Order: sequence, then C-alpha cells, then structure tokens
Amino acid sequence: MINSYQKYLDDVDKHIKHHLSLNDVSDRIKESSLYSISAGGKKIRPLLLFKTLRALNHELSNGVPMAAAIEMVHTYSLIHDDLPAMDNDDYRRGKLTNHKVYGEATAILAGDNLLTESIHLLTLADYSNDVKVKLIETLTSAAGQNGMISGQMNDILSTNASIDYETLEQIHRHKTGKLMVAPVISAAIIANQNEDVIATLQRFAEELGLLFQIKDDLLDVQGTKEEIGKEVGTDEKNNTTTYVSLFGIEGATDLLKKKEKETTELLYRLKDEIDIIHLEDIITIVVNRTK
Ligand code: IPE
Ligand code: IPE
Ligand code: MG
Ligand code: MG
Ligand code: MG
Repeated sequence: MINSYQKYLDDVDKHIKHHLSLNDVSDRIKESSLYSISAGGKKIRPLLLFKTLRALNHELSNGVPMAAAIEMVHTYSLIHDDLPAMDNDDYRRGKLTNHKVYGEATAILAGDNLLTESIHLLTLADYSNDVKVKLIETLTSAAGQNGMISGQMNDILSTNASIDYETLEQIHRHKTGKLMVAPVISAAIIANQNEDVIATLQRFAEELGLLFQIKDDLLDVQGTKEEIGKEVGTDEKNNTTTYVSLFGIEGATDLLKKKEKETTELLYRLKDEIDIIHLEDIITIVVNRTK
C-alpha cells in the first residue's frame, strides 16, 4: 500500500527542498527548480526504491537521499523534454511547464541545476564513501550517454522516421528504462546485496521500465489532460514513434499484458531470496495507472 510509504516520499520532498535552499542560491533558480519539484509528480521512482528496500528487509530512511537525487534527475529530464526544442509541451504535472512560466533560459538552467545538485546532494549524504561512489555511478550511468540522454537523442532522431520494434524498444530501455532501473539497483547497493540478486533485480526493473513507457504511450492517446496532468496527443502531434503508432491501441495493450506477465515471472525468480510481495504491486500500479 502506498500509505505506508507516504512518510518516506514526504521526506524525499523535504530533503530536496532543503538542499535547494542551501547557500548561494539565485532566488530565480531556486523558485523555478522548486516550481517543478513541487508540482506533484507521482514519485514512482522513489516509491520503487523504498519498495525494493522493504523487499530486502532494510531500513527505508536510508533510501531518502538517493531517492531525492533520482527524483531531481527525473524532474530535470522532464523540464528539458518539454522545451520547445524538444516536445514543446505547455502542461506538466497539472501546471504550466517550467519554460511557460519562467522562460526558456531559466527552464534550461533549472534543469541543469537539478541535475548538478542531485550529485552535490549525494556527496553530502550520510552514506559510506564506498556506497556513495557506487550510487553516483548508478545515477550518472542511468542519466547520461549510457542511459536517458541517448534514449532522448534517439527518440528525437526517430521523429518522422520509420523505425522497427527492436529500435523502439532500445530507445525506451534508455530514455525511460534506465531511470527506473536506478532506484532498484540503488536500493540493492544500500542494502549490500550480492551480484546475483542485483542482476535479477536489474532484469526485473528493465522490464518494469518498458511497461511504464508502453503505458505512458497509451495514456498519451487514452488519458485525459485532467488526470495525466499533461496535454494528450503530443506524440502524434510531434510524429514521435511510440508503441501506439507502431501497433495501434489494441496492439500496444496486448503487448502491455504480455510484458506484465513476463515481468511478474522475472520477479518470482527472486522469491526465495527477497520478500517479493513488496514489489508485486508496483507492476499493477504501473500497468493500471490512469495518470
Ligand atoms: C513521465 O514520467 C516521463 C516518462 C519517463 C514516461 P512520470 O509519469 O513518472 O512523471 P511524473 O514524475 O509522475 O510527473
Ligand atoms: C520522455 O518521454 C522521457 C524523459 C523525459 C526521459 P516522453 O516525452 O514520452 O514523456 P512525457 O510523455 O512528455 O511525460
Ligand atoms: Mg519526449
Ligand atoms: Mg514529452
Ligand atoms: Mg509520453
């Protein structure tokens, strides 16, 4: 249940806000960074980190700084994704997008700020130096050229192009998948798990990331602006190749169901090692979400 996690999700919010209020902050950068952070995202990545910690029987509060850092990187990626040069969107998290309120220059800097400060926040966190380096490695490789940035680049290059299923899946594994894998791996690092458990958790999280993006593509055509908090029909407007443009609504829905089953099976492989019950419902949350 999400409720037993709410305290920790609130702590993530507080931790980010506290960090963004440290010395030497330009009032405008602080305001624009906080605007997007406070807009109320679903916080699915922090939730995933806390659920993994619980599955590993580890104290949840230890996950707060890393969950905060991941949420900062995710929010930065959305601010930049919405810019006119990228998806050119006016609404995000039920509010005007950052650049619509503060202008493009400030929105670019707010994104840069959240990315940079996510690492700064981790350097100040109460983890051992060994864990800190591993967490920073996990976060930067998920966010940079091995992860989200390459996914976003190839997503843009796929615009107006015809790409096949394998290429689309590769894009999604990077643009969305890697930042969904990072919370799971981070929890395993914090809870000091062995390589085998980490490898299986990683495969589970990779599939969960794909499920998340298939659903995002479906919500872009099936959702309502009120619920998803962003404009619908953006992908078609931008000629972005998505699961829906490739397979239609029915085909994408069938694929979602097929992958839901496969993701659950991957999780069950860990049933003797971890308390998988805490991760089972995240699959349902991702597949059945309406926002
Ligand atoms: C949206 O992510 C962008 C994708 C990776 C598909 P979320 O749906 O998690 O956005 P928020 O954080 O809830 O706003
Ligand atoms: C963007 O995917 C994912 C990242 C920001 C890395 P989308 O462009 O589909 O996300 P939404 O639909 O705008 O949230
Ligand atoms: Mg995009
Ligand atoms: Mg977008
Ligand atoms: Mg989308």
